[in-house]
Amino acid sequence: MGLLIKGGEIVTAETRLRGDIFIENETVSAIGQGLAVPKGTEVIDAAGKLIFPGFIDPHVHIHLPFMATFAKDTHQAASKAALVGGTTTFIEMCCPSRKDDALEGYHVWKQKAEGNSACDYAFHMSVTRYDATTEAQLREIVKDGTTSFKIFLSYKNFFGVDDEEMFHTLKLAAELGVITTAHCENAELVGQLQQQLLSEGKTGAEWHEPSRPESVEAEGTTRFATFLEQTGAAGYVVHLSCAPALCAAVDAKVRGVNLHIESVLPHFLLDKTYAERAGVEGMKNIMSPPLRDKRNQPVLWNALKTGIIDTVGTDHCPFDKEQKLLGAKAFTQIPNGIPGIEDRVNLMYTYGVKRGGLDIHRFVDALSTRAAKLFGLYPRKGTIAVGSDADLVVYDTNYRGAISAATQQGINDYNGFEGFAIEGRPSVVTVRGKVQVRDGVFVGEQGRGRMIRREPQL
Ligand code: URP
Ligand code: ZN
Ligand code: ZN
Repeated sequence: MGLLIKGGEIVTAETRLRGDIFIENETVSAIGQGLAVPKGTEVIDAAGKLIFPGFIDPHVHIHLPFMATFAKDTHQAASKAALVGGTTTFIEMCCPSRKDDALEGYHVWKQKAEGNSACDYAFHMSVTRYDATTEAQLREIVKDGTTSFKIFLSYKNFFGVDDEEMFHTLKLAAELGVITTAHCENAELVGQLQQQLLSEGKTGAEWHEPSRPESVEAEGTTRFATFLEQTGAAGYVVHLSCAPALCAAVDAKVRGVNLHIESVLPHFLLDKTYAERAGVEGMKNIMSPPLRDKRNQPVLWNALKTGIIDTVGTDHCPFDKEQKLLGAKAFTQIPNGIPGIEDRVNLMYTYGVKRGGLDIHRFVDALSTRAAKLFGLYPRKGTIAVGSDADLVVYDTNYRGAISAATQQGINDYNGFEGFAIEGRPSVVTVRGKVQVRDGVFVGEQGRGRMIRREPQL
């Protein structure tokens, strides 16, 4: 049976038009006005609503062994949360540690997701060690349809790679035509600064940011870009947080380095004073790179508006309050991460499009289309077009509400954006033509999500 979404305002990264969308066999089969449809078609009235392509979160952690614990999430909960918030595809960071076998890790991550996700998904494969076995394993993983890598320049001895390993990873990525995403902070400097601060008795969450200052992120960004330049690989800086790192990335871009920039929801809306709050309230807001001085926020918003920042992800990475308290005696032990998969679309719509002058097409581009293009999902995902997957968000711009852990889908015991007002939310969300959400409630099929296998891009 077909599905007709009738009379909405269809908004993509390029166009805006009022019309109907007809869906058959999981894909969009017609777009037009007054579409005639077969008998038995289910009709959703979208009059007065916007219709966006399903949003894509390119930076998500769900299964994550990290900092003596595990991120507090499951694919079931995270995917429902994603969908209720309008995200129909996420790309999860597959992160075996340096001591794990990469290929075994890849299979663990795939098994965790398979049959459990309510929305579609893909992986970035982290390269956390480069030794004699790595090349063959990465070739196999790319053949399996995971065509983006992740490296960490930070988290020494756990996820972090050294320069030699980064070089070999990028050489292989260039040969295979895959893009490499990177967490850019100088691991050595972070380690030295952490020890210095702790030795001075500076143990609270408020010292996390000073242990990873802006210049340390800028150095990592510059070094990553230089290695891209010398290897010819394509790169993508994840969770960029501050003006100096942005300048380093732009400097590389204007030299012709094939580099793309992601920032993430917390860096647009939260600042370092959140992490300076007393006790666990501060710990809740610990992530890396850290929440920064507020003066960085207008810089990030401007870079987003002009397209210098390509994408907005979440870096969704929940830890509950008990886990955060692992760092009660030393900020270096606070699990790093803030949840956000459920709230990115509504918050960026509210504080960007409604209140901040962010063009609505750029909003769609940054939260969906550009990630689809960079990571080999386009045009299957990231747009509304005949033949594309019918991942659609019917968006109610008249909705008024506030973010609250009490009403969220996510299983964490707090929400990093508690109390933030929202002006809009999805009223219907479809995944390949099946209605999965109605007005903030998951009404769909839990295991509907599929791993989307991708081709090399370059
Ligand atoms: O603090 C963060 N960002 N936690 C998740 C791991 C990472 O660095 O992305
Ligand atoms: Zn990171
Ligand atoms: Zn991350």
